[in-house]
Parts: sequence; structure tokens; C-alpha cells
Amino acid sequence: MDINTIRKETRGCKNKIFLNSAGSSLVPDPVFDRTISYLTEEARVGGYALAYSSLEETEEFYTEAASLLNCNPENIAYMTSATDAYAKAISSITFKEGDIILTTDDDYVSNQLTFISLKKRVGVKIIRAVNLPNGDLDLVNFEQLVKEYQPKLVALTHIPTSSGLVQDAEKVGEICQKYKIWYLLDACQSVGQLVVDVKKLKCDFLAATGRKFLRGPRGTGFLYVSDSALQADLAPLFIDMLGAKWTSEEDYELELTAKRFEFWESSIAGKLGLKEALKYANAIGMANIERYNAGLMAAFRVKLAAIKGLQLQDWGTQVSNILTFTMDHHTTDEISEHLKQHGVYFSISSKSSALIDFTRKNIESAIRLSPHYFNTPEELEKVVTILNF
Ligand SMILES: Cc1ncc(COP(=O)(O)O)c(C=O)c1O
Repeated sequence: MDINTIRKETRGCKNKIFLNSAGSSLVPDPVFDRTISYLTEEARVGGYALAYSSLEETEEFYTEAASLLNCNPENIAYMTSATDAYAKAISSITFKEGDIILTTDDDYVSNQLTFISLKKRVGVKIIRAVNLPNGDLDLVNFEQLVKEYQPKLVALTHIPTSSGLVQDAEKVGEICQKYKIWYLLDACQSVGQLVVDVKKLKCDFLAATGRKFLRGPRGTGFLYVSDSALQADLAPLFIDMLGAKWTSEEDYELELTAKRFEFWESSIAGKLGLKEALKYANAIGMANIERYNAGLMAAFRVKLAAIKGLQLQDWGTQVSNILTFTMDHHTTDEISEHLKQHGVYFSISSKSSALIDFTRKNIESAIRLSPHYFNTPEELEKVVTILNF
């Protein structure tokens, strides 16, 4: 990995220490340039004419996303966000009263809200699998729950938003395949950060966003839909003229590919920007990115843990580029002010988005640092010095 070139192509990484890729990362120059050049041309010729003449390039979005996830372009749908992808995927399953959604305590806040909404409206039952004392998902218990309850859907968040934990999505995939359960994976924080291979994960749906570790534009995302889900005619509850062809007064024919999950209207500038982000990640190689990130974070965690009174809040055997911490002698607001004064960019995670996790950790909020491969060990060394206060 040529870190100097990568930093040169990341105009936002100068004069600050940017550690917020789990929020919204810094786009590399090719993403910025293509998005702007498309919008410039769109202003000149109009949206429809340019979309038509850009069709071939637009299709590259699907091939790049497929290459990132190890699937076919026909399994990919363009979305406006991970939540958009997730909502459309879950709406394709016909739930009835008493159906069970099996999920975890660490699943994303908006996904939990969706389950509760389905509970209120349809009467589904939500079961959350237990964790081992170290924070990992208890896979033995998980399989028992699948066997006992035969859930209609297993929903797992690969990496939670407010904790570094990486959930064992591959093992969960094996269990779902064994018991033939639909499996929806929220890979919003893992795509662009780790190698994410749908053949290994064995998921039926995977939701991803553009702006985080993938370094794409805001307002973009995508959904992976497995061949089995497509062949079972799973389609979003609200479908539009891209997703289906109106064949008679009372009927339609579904689009064959995952595009049936898209809406006709979308931002083409965003789609081409996201295509560039995917291309950029594929060119560097996700295995290289993952390896660099692991080295960066291992040293960072050890050094931060050595600061007196600093409590790392991430649990689990495998932890990621999301690092959360509190300090015994400073409030979150005080740490936040201090980091801002030193030009460090970060996020604050609060209990409202991690209700179960932060309740068991007995914290109201935590500072979230999320370095990525354009960050250097020297930058993180500086942050360690800054936090020694
Ligand atoms: C784990 C996880 N899932 C889903 C989302 C939602 O992503 P989006 O804002 O792109 O809908 C987030 C955003 O922070 C997230 O961290």
C-alpha cells in the first residue's frame, strides 16, 4: 500500500487528524472529481440526456460492487443509504403474527426500531441472542434459538456503530444455511474496512453504505441480494417501475435482478462517485486495507489502554477500527473539547443509539475514534499524547 500517494489523493487529511471514517469518511480525489464533473455536465445538458449517455459507465458501479463482495453484478442494487437497503430487504419478507426475528443486543439502533415497529404493527416476536461474558455472540445459544424457534429472519449487524466488536457473521451464516432461514446482514461498518465476501458469509441480504469506510459520497449505498432470494421472488413491499413491469391491470412481472429493489429515481452523480470509491478500494485490495488497519489499531489500542484512567469500551475477541473509550477523570464533553482543540476529528456515541450495550457497560456516552488506512501510526501516536491529559 502506497500510503504517501493515498494521502496525497485525500485532500481532507491535511492539517487535522481525521478519525471519523465510521461516521462519514474523507473521499479520495477520484470520487470527488467524478461526482463534480458529472454534476457540471448535468447542469449543461440536463439530467436525462446525460444519464442516457452515461449508461455504460453507470453499469460499472454494479461490477465494482460485485467484485468487492465476490458476487455477480445481478446481485447488486443501488441504494441511498444502508438504512434504505435494510428497509427494502426486510420489507420483502412477509411477516405474520407470531413470526420470529432473531437478532442480537448489538444490532444497529434503526434496525432495532424496525423490529419494534414490525412487532407493533404485525405482532412479530423479537428474540435477542445472548453474549458470552467477553462480549462475543454465544453461537451455541444462537444455534439453539434457531433450532427451537425457527425464526422467519435472522438479522445481524456485523460491526455495531458504537463498539469495536466484530460479530461472527460467517458462523451465523452457516447456522442460517443449515436451518434454511433468511439471513439479513447489516455490513454498514464492515464494508470498506474488512474483506466482506458474501460466499463465505452465506447471507441472503447485505446492506452497505457509501460514505463510511468505503469513502464514497453521502446519500449512497447498496444492497446485495442472493440468488436464492431472487429466485424465491422476494421483492420490496413498495415496488416501482424499475423493479417491475406493469403487465396487466392487476399484475406485474418482477425485474429478474436485484435492481427490483431500486427505485427509478436516483442520483447518478452519487452512483458514479460510489463506483469510483469501490474501484479505489478494489484497486488497493481489501485484504491490504484490512491488514494495514489491523496493525494500526493493535498498536493504538495498547497505547491508549496504558493511559491511566482511560477505559477502552470495546468488547469481543475480534475488534475493529471502531474504538470507543471513556475516562475516569474527564467527562465525554471535556474529552471532546480537548480533542477538538487539538484538531482531532471524531464522534460521540451515546446511549440512545446503543441502549442495550451502554446499559450493560454502565455508560451514558463514549468517544468514538475510527481511523482508516489513510491514517498513519505517527498521527495515532500524537492522539495518544493528546489524550494523556
Ligand atoms: C451498523 C450501522 N448500520 C446502519 C447504519 C445506517 O447507515 P445509513 O446512515 O447509511 O443508513 C449505521 C450508521 O451509522 C451503522 O453504523
